Amino acid sequence: PGFAAIIPAAGSGTRLGKGPKAAVTVGGRSLLAWAVSALAPHVSEVVVALPAGLELPADVPAGVRTILGGATRQESVRRLLQSVDAEYVLIHDAARPFLSGETVRAMQAAVRRTDAATVALPVADSLVLGGGTPSGQQTTVQQPSTSNHPPSFWVQGVPRENIWAIQTPQGFRRELLLQAHARAEAEGFAATDDAGLVARLEHAVELVEGDARLFKVTRAGDLALAEAVAAQWGQ
Ligand code: CTP
Ligand code: MG
Repeated sequence: PGFAAIIPAAGSGTRLGKGPKAAVTVGGRSLLAWAVSALAPHVSEVVVALPAGLELPADVPAGVRTILGGATRQESVRRLLQSVDAEYVLIHDAARPFLSGETVRAMQAAVRRTDAATVALPVADSLVLGGGTPSGQQTTVQQPSTSNHPPSFWVQGVPRENIWAIQTPQGFRRELLLQAHARAEAEGFAATDDAGLVARLEHAVELVEGDARLFKVTRAGDLALAEAVAAQWGQ
């Protein structure tokens, strides 16, 4: 019974450019060690999906089980789900080192209430729908090389009331998430997170207010921010 924590850590860290992020250090500690340490006190078991060829970093607390991840995050999570038998699972990205005990406990309470919940952050910036060149103009825009997006223009503002940015941890009754993954696989549906797969079953997903410090270490600039948070964490 109770909760297992499953940690997808099998990515290659392409955008960060320092190898698999599980082993990248922040504040002198691997990202995976940060994530495991935050979850282990609250769950009966921690299982991590690693990429082929990566050993568990030496600073990860003892008692963690590892499996081989898949080609996508969704596949890594599916494999992790099949490797545990707890009633509930908490899924947390290895790339999000700063998870408080308070947030873990709030998530566990929500999952027990509703069977499906995710940490999410109300959006602080103004939001806009972007699009192609404005009509009647021939414009070339140089994008910074770090952008994944094509040149874009302001099309329409989006009210940010009730808009949330989705983070992890996410938590589910394990059977429900297995069902959501099976459906997604059968229908060829891909999502970047698990709550998206469960919402697609038209099951309610509770939003638990997160924390700006739960940001994902994705690009080089995020590491400087992570070092600053690490220096203050726990003080
Ligand atoms: N992940 C995984 N298996 C994959 C891909 C990603 O377990 N095949 C994990 C990553 O290790 C990470 C989390 O999913 O903890 C979020 O993914 P992301 O931030 O995209 O990490 P990477 O895929 O490693 O980075 P990139 O996309 O830049 O290569
Ligand atoms: Mg990725």
